[in-house]
Amino acid sequence: MRRVLVTGAASGLGAALSDAFEARGDEVLRTDISDGADLRLDITSDDDWAAALAHVEQTWGGLDVLVNNAGVAGGGRLDVATLDEWRWITEINLFGAVRGTRAFVPLLKRQRSGAIVNVASLAGLVHPAGMASYNAVKAAVVALTETTGHELAAYGVSAHVVCPSYFRTNLMSSLQGADTALGAVMSKLVESSPISADDIAAAVLEGLDRGDEVIVPDQPARDAYGLKQTDRATYDVIMRAQAAKLEEGAR
Ligand SMILES: NC(=O)c1ccc[n+]([C@@H]2O[C@H](COP(=O)([O-])OP(=O)(O)OC[C@H]3O[C@@H](n4cnc5c(N)ncnc54)[C@H](O)[C@@H]3O)[C@@H](O)[C@H]2O)c1
Repeated sequence: MRRVLVTGAASGLGAALSDAFEARGDEVLRTDISDGADLRLDITSDDDWAAALAHVEQTWGGLDVLVNNAGVAGGGRLDVATLDEWRWITEINLFGAVRGTRAFVPLLKRQRSGAIVNVASLAGLVHPAGMASYNAVKAAVVALTETTGHELAAYGVSAHVVCPSYFRTNLMSSLQGADTALGAVMSKLVESSPISADDIAAAVLEGLDRGDEVIVPDQPARDAYGLKQTDRATYDVIMRAQAAKLEEGAR
């Protein structure tokens, strides 16, 4: 039985991961900014993180798995997205995971065990046109996770990053941004995906069982990342065709 804290657990992947951990007999503290969780935790609030840490220490006396899952959708072409949009998505998708990590690392170091699981995205590994801010913060979450793994290995604490392609959730309800052309494309990809949050959650738990540090949980994501690594020229042709299509659609 593991003691697991999940952020963004009221919806989508956070809810599916919570269900999957519980189905294995783990105890889950579901946190979210929205109703439908055990504990209100806005991942952009230091006070909320301090309260979550105190709650975990009082009720469980420790933590085995911290899942930094909560996030929002954003993006937009370079000359359309505003700097405020960059700040907004960075504050939630990057600093949310940074705050969670900073809040719990002292406890994990003290107990000399545990795991941090950060939900990034395939966008952290391959970087489509029109999504610079989302790509950049998710790539930063990939880097944060690798660094965490190196820094905490000596303490018996592991770090794992999850990099899925598009799957069906409520993610697009959080979308903000001036680039409506990009919003339309992203919405279609999320809403028409054949992959469910439960599919991703099952693959994440399998990846954790294997001890994978980078979990690429679905075939479309593995194909895209594989192509980038093995045939960069073809990958660039495909990415630039997508960029042209986005620009064309915006006219
Ligand atoms: N759905 C996809 O196609 C996809 C693909 C790759 C990665 N992801 C990532 O998966 C993660 C989960 O997203 P999802 O697709 O399940 O979306 P979702 O919108 O269904 O769930 C996200 C949850 O995060 C919560 N949240 C938002 N801001 C928060 C904050 N400041 N504090 C606490 N909770 C907050 C929301 O209330 C919501 O319950 C995100 O990090 C997202 O970037 C999603």
